[in-house]
Amino acid sequence: MTQTSEATNATASDGSKSRPIDLYDPDVFQDGGVPHEDLTWLRRNAPVYFHPEPGGPGYYAVTKYDDICAISKDPGTFSSARGGTNIQDYAPGDLSLIRLMMLNMDPPQHAKFRRLVQRGFTPRMVSLLEPKIRDSARMLVDRIAHKGECEFVTEIAAELPLLVIADLIGVPHEDRHKIFDWSNQLIGFDDPEFQNSMEDARMAAAQMWGYANTLAQERKGHEGDDLVSVLMKAEVDGGELSIMEFDAFFLLLSVAGNETTRNLISGGMWALIENPAERQRLLDDPSLIPSAVEEMLRWVTPVLYFRRTATRDTEIRGVPIRENDKVCMYYASANRDEDVFENPQRFDVGRTPNEHIAFGVGEHFCMGASLARLEIRLMFEELLRRLPDMELVAPPRRLRSNFINGVKEMRLRYTPER
Ligand code: HEM
Repeated sequence: MTQTSEATNATASDGSKSRPIDLYDPDVFQDGGVPHEDLTWLRRNAPVYFHPEPGGPGYYAVTKYDDICAISKDPGTFSSARGGTNIQDYAPGDLSLIRLMMLNMDPPQHAKFRRLVQRGFTPRMVSLLEPKIRDSARMLVDRIAHKGECEFVTEIAAELPLLVIADLIGVPHEDRHKIFDWSNQLIGFDDPEFQNSMEDARMAAAQMWGYANTLAQERKGHEGDDLVSVLMKAEVDGGELSIMEFDAFFLLLSVAGNETTRNLISGGMWALIENPAERQRLLDDPSLIPSAVEEMLRWVTPVLYFRRTATRDTEIRGVPIRENDKVCMYYASANRDEDVFENPQRFDVGRTPNEHIAFGVGEHFCMGASLARLEIRLMFEELLRRLPDMELVAPPRRLRSNFINGVKEMRLRYTPER
């Protein structure tokens, strides 16, 4: 699964110019970060670009904001279930397994499932978590504050979402690192530090599956307000949520809720360090933190793209798309679309309006968005108040992935708290 590709020349829709572009090779992202200059070129010159794929049929890279919104809102034409939501195609057995996760479902099944699990994510459920999340953020900063130096990704950014998910699903805190390792292996499929083969991913999924199964069996019939107990009482299609459906949801939550928030917190801190004047604005006026959180989401865009598969012949911006063609929606590009954002390459903690689509749009709009926003806000409130002068010790190391905009290691130093 650590395939690489050669850069190919992308040609403008009107044939007037070309440019070497490679959005597939994970090394491109690891070495230089998100290739924003290439994405800008594509938006301007080839907004629906047919991208080659080593060992596969290729896919359309869609880079304009409006096109991505339209595709996301038309699941009848652009399916999440037919081929999954990542570029690579799955073996039939794997495909039927990933379709147990709502991320890879289409209406009407998706709506039914979503209604059911949404109970665990109502604004009330989320606001109930606030005091716990604040305590966790405080405890994590307590642990590093006196040291003057830390590895921010593992000590801060990865820990908070893990603690929160563990509380949400009622996993004992001491087990949270199992989830950390499994989700790294599942999502870091292009990074040899986390996983070398599809087999490793299958193994991690199987272990997580087994773990979820035990939890579900234990809680079945229990009265409790943790998510597992709530879901084990829930009903789909008039019947109960099957254990297998629960296991798939557990897997989705663990992956979707951890990697994304972790990389947003790391990438957000990196952006503040690189933009000292913007950080100073926040220190002078902490009431800007909620809008800074939105700007970090736009700026970092932790999920670079999701895929859809055409269910019939259609077209996007005049480009013909045939049934079964793959279409990838580059949120990372939409969030810097000059037709939507003024001065999009500037990091501006006070940006308004800021209608970014880092959480997607339409039917599959991120179910954890309000939870993620809360976690990020509380974490930065704590960090900025207590450790306002964090700076890089060395260049951060990025995740090798064309899917997640990730940071693996970021060593920081700061004035130790007395
Ligand atoms: C910064 C943090 C996060 C980002 C950037 C993010 C991003 C996204 C995006 C782009 C989608 C849309 C998928 C699509 O259209 O195919 C999505 C869906 C989803 N997210 Fe998040 N997410 C974040 C945090 C979370 C958290 C904390 C949770 C749960 C605890 C979560 C749970 C989910 C679930 C369950 C879905 C599937 C929804 C559906 O299929 O209807 N996410 N997320």
